Amino acid sequence: MSSNLTEETLTAAVQQTFDDSTDQRFRQLFVCLVQHLHDFAREVRLTGDEWFTAMDFIERMGKISTPTRQEVVLLSDILGLSMLLDKINQHAGSSVTDSALLGPFYVEGRPTAANGDDISNGVAGTPMFVTGRVVDDQGSPIAGAKVDTWHSDGQGFYDVQQTEKLHDEFAMRALLTTDDDGRFWYRSVTPRYYPTPTDGPCGEIMRAANRSVMRPQHVHFWFHAEGYQPLITQLFYRDDPYIGRDAVFADQDSLQADFVRHESGIAPDGTAVEQPFVTLDWTFTLAAE
Ligand code: BEZ
Ligand code: FE
Repeated sequence: MSSNLTEETLTAAVQQTFDDSTDQRFRQLFVCLVQHLHDFAREVRLTGDEWFTAMDFIERMGKISTPTRQEVVLLSDILGLSMLLDKINQHAGSSVTDSALLGPFYVEGRPTAANGDDISNGVAGTPMFVTGRVVDDQGSPIAGAKVDTWHSDGQGFYDVQQTEKLHDEFAMRALLTTDDDGRFWYRSVTPRYYPTPTDGPCGEIMRAANRSVMRPQHVHFWFHAEGYQPLITQLFYRDDPYIGRDAVFADQDSLQADFVRHESGIAPDGTAVEQPFVTLDWTFTLAAE
């Protein structure tokens, strides 16, 4: 059988190899992916050396990745793909809380906590009291919703990044459950802006592009409730020096919140705090399934 494929006809030949797939979505994804990949290579006249560099990059991303160091997630984030997917799949124009990417620092197996617990696990910092409410699009409370939350310390480090291993356990992350009124609340320490990890392959991209690697101060949330679509989101400090130029494009206006500074006094949960502290309060709206 003779074959005389050209730069133009090769694409269709590859696409045809997916014709026998019984999974139509799989077929659609790969036919389209091949089209765009080939068009990309043709458009930029990709050289063999350049593609070898790219493949080496992908291999190095895999090698550096661990359950707590997710370089491929980071690539998706810095290329804006994670936020593009959020925009494609979210409910534009509805009252549902906007989503914001998961990021590489969510960790399986985090501890559960009761409302009111201090989830800092002894990390030093300015106390932060978070109060939240989870409601449906009619404003009715969602009781029993699962609330994952995680954030950095006051130096901008997550527990998994704390090199001196101040803690051999998780810190500043927990799974809470909303009460009958849809409320959850916890104490922790106030996070700070921080750089995306730059010691891996993605750092090479950021340096080559002369890009800012900073993320404005934020707290992560991931909600699950029966009968509702899961929501992954973040709240950002409205007055952060890096607000509006998040390295991963997640700090949209609708998620900018007041991290209110207080002098010593009584915290929202009634605790007497003898040092300045911060409060963060937000209502999250979930979409029905
Ligand atoms: C984060 O928010 O944890 C994060 C997101 C993207 C890149 C790096 C960190
Ligand atoms: Fe984060």
